[in-house]
Amino acid sequence: MANITYDAQGRCWILQMDASTYCLGLSEDASSLRHIYWGPRIAPATASEMAHAPRPLKRPFDMSAWTLREEYTPWGGMRFSEPSLKVEYSDGTRVIEWVFEEDAIDQPGESQTLSLRFRDRAYPLAVTLYYRIYDGHDVIERWVRLENTGGGPVTIEQALSADWQLPHHERYRLTYLQGRALKETQVTESVLGPGKVVLESRRGITSHQLNPWVALDPDARATEESGEVWSAALAWSGTWKIVVETTAYGEVHCAGGVNDFDFRYRLDEGARLDLPAFVGLYSNEGFGGVSRRWHAYERERVLPEAPAAVRPVLYNSWEATAFAVNERNQMELAEQAAELGAEVFVLDDGWFGTRDNDEAGLGDWTVNPEKFPHGLSPLIARVNALGMRFGLWIEPEMVNPDSELYRAHPDWVYHFRNRSRTEGRNQLVLNLAREDVREWMCATLDRLLSEQHIEFVKWDMNRYFSEPGWPEEVGRNPERIWLEHVRNLYRIIDELRRRHAHVAFESCAAGGGRVDLGILSRVEQVWPSDNTDAFDRLRIQEGFSYAYMPRVMMCWVTDCPNFLTRRTIPLRYRFHVAMAGSLGIGGDLARWSAQELEEARDFIASYKRVRSTIQNGLLYRLLSPRTGNVAASQYIARDGSEVVVLAWGHSQQFGETQVSLPLRGLDEEACYADAVSDMNYSGAYLAQQGLPMNLVGDFDSQMIHLIRTTPTR
Ligand code: GLA
Repeated sequence: MANITYDAQGRCWILQMDASTYCLGLSEDASSLRHIYWGPRIAPATASEMAHAPRPLKRPFDMSAWTLREEYTPWGGMRFSEPSLKVEYSDGTRVIEWVFEEDAIDQPGESQTLSLRFRDRAYPLAVTLYYRIYDGHDVIERWVRLENTGGGPVTIEQALSADWQLPHHERYRLTYLQGRALKETQVTESVLGPGKVVLESRRGITSHQLNPWVALDPDARATEESGEVWSAALAWSGTWKIVVETTAYGEVHCAGGVNDFDFRYRLDEGARLDLPAFVGLYSNEGFGGVSRRWHAYERERVLPEAPAAVRPVLYNSWEATAFAVNERNQMELAEQAAELGAEVFVLDDGWFGTRDNDEAGLGDWTVNPEKFPHGLSPLIARVNALGMRFGLWIEPEMVNPDSELYRAHPDWVYHFRNRSRTEGRNQLVLNLAREDVREWMCATLDRLLSEQHIEFVKWDMNRYFSEPGWPEEVGRNPERIWLEHVRNLYRIIDELRRRHAHVAFESCAAGGGRVDLGILSRVEQVWPSDNTDAFDRLRIQEGFSYAYMPRVMMCWVTDCPNFLTRRTIPLRYRFHVAMAGSLGIGGDLARWSAQELEEARDFIASYKRVRSTIQNGLLYRLLSPRTGNVAASQYIARDGSEVVVLAWGHSQQFGETQVSLPLRGLDEEACYADAVSDMNYSGAYLAQQGLPMNLVGDFDSQMIHLIRTTPTR
């Protein structure tokens, strides 16, 4: 049970979670909030004892008066590390002196929330820090509310969501996910020395380059399944920043939130601003333990779908027909997709406006009459008659200069006076901070979803922000676009979901440019990358799995040679890689041989038998594609009744065929039967000796489905 208590003796609050404890308290003069403890679960009395413990001695010759480790640092006094909050008051005062006002512990059921309210001693700013924990989890959601309590505007220059203090250790290793379009979420490590590491996006969206997720382990001691790891992730889909700072005394803290770059936000009298959550968790079960905790949190507390929901098998026609879509070729693909067992058919780009390539049409969300002379209804009716749901691609935040929308509203895009409007993929970004743009977008999409029986939306976003100006607002805080664009995006999706509850959403941004806990609270799934080469994909999917659960990871089987890498890989391997998440098909089925179609049907049928275990189970990464010739993942159903193992061999060497994969997390006393062959194994055997795999030649792969035959206790 999650539990938050106030300990009067230690003047501290103690947050008890599933397997961890967090403790924080006020400084003696109530002018700062001390971090006391974050780690394995301890008794409240121990936390209280820590809160009591004598403060560290003032350091000799240290010019900074502050030796406290603070939970949130308003810029002011002798503070020189990364500030959490920096403001300017209307008389030009730029430092904060805050005092504690009140606390509250809210206990609505399965979660508990601690709020701590501070206010500036002399100016109209109230700052409330929130900490929310949940039964059965080790996550702490932290966020902040800023309020102008009256008396002149307050300009916010930097407002992070939380500052996580880590226990003292000689050296931390930072693990994070970096890359670029077509190479997203690459697991990357670096050992920290004194100084700052800044991970950030200044691109308006979450970004392909860095994902707002980090893990820190002391002395690089953690392995996949052992060791202490602290991890944090931002629930925000706009520009962001995570600063991991190591002081000269070896203290490490990790502050994060909305990026302060080019940022100013004017908080008028009576206004308030809620900052996005920066969520943290602790595990002493290595990186695997960290990932499983993130997955459980996403499944139970973040995603809009029920925890046990499974994603349908999807067909998407983008790689097959690109912009050359029409009623006939989409109907043909739909027939074939249905025959294979697809459950959703998605019509991608090219269906609207004058969209024959990427040079025109974005912004004009009406059906192209040449390609679909009778509108989309006949195609949708056919898709539905084939037993599938119909899905549609849109990219609402964008406009091509060659479009009706842009010709009518050239002022609707981000731009500065006397400056170029730099195009990316021939498109510009609509200024979604504008109320008229927000209203137009919401009404346009609402109409689309009301007029057509659409049950799935792929929401794309194919370029970063540049020249983020808003000339009409000069002098009235145009820099607020960095916040308001994302807040309005969230509002629109929330509103569409409310009005069209039967529609599922996928977040895509030229591949995996918008994957984060913020968007995941309003979409069922995300598109991790436009790179669909199965071999490259293993590394992208591995990194993705560090932070995000398999169910949300859409993976397509596409054609060979792959459009990007020119690599040819057996269909079986392509399927087995795509089965590691939510399975989709993205190939041109018209070109698949009868044998390939037959094989595909079987793979899809076998995937449906195991998908609930893969999508919602406990993931154990057995072998990393970064380190060896064979990569493998294991999934255990949450009730322990089934196990699925996927193994991918790159190239057989020196005549070796047998690999044994010791499995994890099994009941050693239970028995497990192979669902296909007649093999039976004890849990102990599988854990010690390992599951025998037979990978032959190049790009061979296997999926093994084990069923527990001993009743669960
Ligand atoms: C982006 C997406 C692709 C596809 C194209 C369509 O690149 O990531 O999946 O939808 O746009 O233009």
